[in-house]
Amino acid sequence: MHHKIMKMLTMFSVLLYFVSAALAGNFYEDFAVTWGGGRAKSFDNGNSLTLTLDRDSGSGFRSKRQFLFGKIDMKIKLVPGNSAGTVTTYYLSSLGQFHDEIDFEFLGNLSGQPYVMHTNVYAQGKGSKEQQFYLWFDPTKDFHTYSIQWNPQSIIFSVDGTPVRQFKNLESRGIPFPKSQPMWIYASLWNADDWATRGGLVKTDWSKAPFYATFTGFNALSCPNYASCSTNSWFSQSLDYAAIAKMKWIQKNYMVYNYCTDYRRFPGGFPPECSIA
Ligand SMILES: *[C@@H]1O[C@H](CO)[C@@H](O)[C@H](O)[C@H]1NC(C)=O
Repeated sequence: MHHKIMKMLTMFSVLLYFVSAALAGNFYEDFAVTWGGGRAKSFDNGNSLTLTLDRDSGSGFRSKRQFLFGKIDMKIKLVPGNSAGTVTTYYLSSLGQFHDEIDFEFLGNLSGQPYVMHTNVYAQGKGSKEQQFYLWFDPTKDFHTYSIQWNPQSIIFSVDGTPVRQFKNLESRGIPFPKSQPMWIYASLWNADDWATRGGLVKTDWSKAPFYATFTGFNALSCPNYASCSTNSWFSQSLDYAAIAKMKWIQKNYMVYNYCTDYRRFPGGFPPECSIA
């Protein structure tokens, strides 16, 4: 009798192990390593993944699925210490010359100097909509959640639930908006010391290699097609007044670059979306 129960318990825990592995296996199930070979490693039952960069190569991964709209969260702990010259990316992109793209890029820095969080949006192959921010915490100490909410009304970039940028659908004013090309989720860690840190002045210190960034807490709300999307709350969600006020406060205090105020770059006038609140 006792023996039988023990046997059942063992079988049960083996079963549980497989079930929980399947549930937690985000990086094994949802992503494929696209470059860098063994430099990208999943661990913790696939709940987490570390990308590394050394002198020979960086590394990266891509989602197996494509998304047409979605609410995507990723927790990232960025390269600690002297990360100057390195860039960690996390973005959505389709393929081809007229591709759409929604970007987060994290530009490393010398120890104790601030990272720059770079954001951009491409619609039908046209980008040049950069906004950059300092962060209000040390992004290398703990995991923080970086989110993209993409629906037909807008793209909202958030950090730990606080919106930092909104790119509205202003197609009615002739401004392209990503809305018909499915995108993959990508992430990478690579060397960009020709431009990343202080415009390329500070180079990667290879004596500190390998560099590593860790991803976890991947969560994606999406829908297989437009019709089934409309039942999801995120699909029609926009920022309320309180969220807009928070975003404006972040932009006032932490934004370090805005294409919409770069006179040198747009001497003939700013892009039209810049003058639409
Ligand atoms: C790095 O630190 C310098 C000096 O504080 C700062 O000007 C720069 O914006 C920081 N970030 C990057 C990515 O260069």
